[in-house]
Amino acid sequence: MRLDKVIADMGIGTRNEIRKACRALRIAVNGETVKDPSVHVDPETDLISIDGEPIQYQKYVYFMLNKPKGVISSTSDREPTVIELIDCTVKGLYPVGRLDRDTEGLLLITNDGPLGHQLLSPRHHVEKEYLVTARDAIREADCAKIRTGMKIDKGEVTLPAEIALIGDRECRLILREGKYHEIKRMFAALHNEVIALKRIRMKDLVLDETLKPGEYRALTEEEIASLYD
Ligand code: URA
Repeated sequence: MRLDKVIADMGIGTRNEIRKACRALRIAVNGETVKDPSVHVDPETDLISIDGEPIQYQKYVYFMLNKPKGVISSTSDREPTVIELIDCTVKGLYPVGRLDRDTEGLLLITNDGPLGHQLLSPRHHVEKEYLVTARDAIREADCAKIRTGMKIDKGEVTLPAEIALIGDRECRLILREGKYHEIKRMFAALHNEVIALKRIRMKDLVLDETLKPGEYRALTEEEIASLYD
């Protein structure tokens, strides 16, 4: 496997950044400085280091993406998908849960199937926190319905959710389930409309606000561990 691909697949940088690091003589394989990013290495047996720090080959990779509007949360589509935003060719990458095309914010992208299964399982009630901007003022009576659980369309009833107003038309909303278009359907049932939606947290994983829409980074060890608790 190419050296730049091995390192990019581990989420340590984009291939472009890795090429630059090679040119700057920062990368070594088995103790020998490597200038050519296309050199072939075996990630299981070769010792790769950057600035003298060995890097560990990992089976699973984890990225936090700040999903931009206009991109689909799926693995393949005729339209641009979130996976195409990630410079990593590891097989089996998928987004953990879906955000609507016009929703922005935190999306976990990984090839760790069991973790995704656990986070999405309806039995686990994993918290997802959103910033919502509505068309019209959000009333206390609306908040009360959201807090107790409310009827939305197609006879569905939502689980109790947490809501805190941060402006006349803005709130923080914490869901513990993931019904299709849930927040939009809640607001529609309240005769209001969601005009902007951003996810800022999933379980203990908080969106890194230094990431601009479309940018991503690898999760830290602590962030990965917090998702497993
Ligand atoms: N609820 C919605 O309506 N849309 C999302 O993208 C996420 C939650």
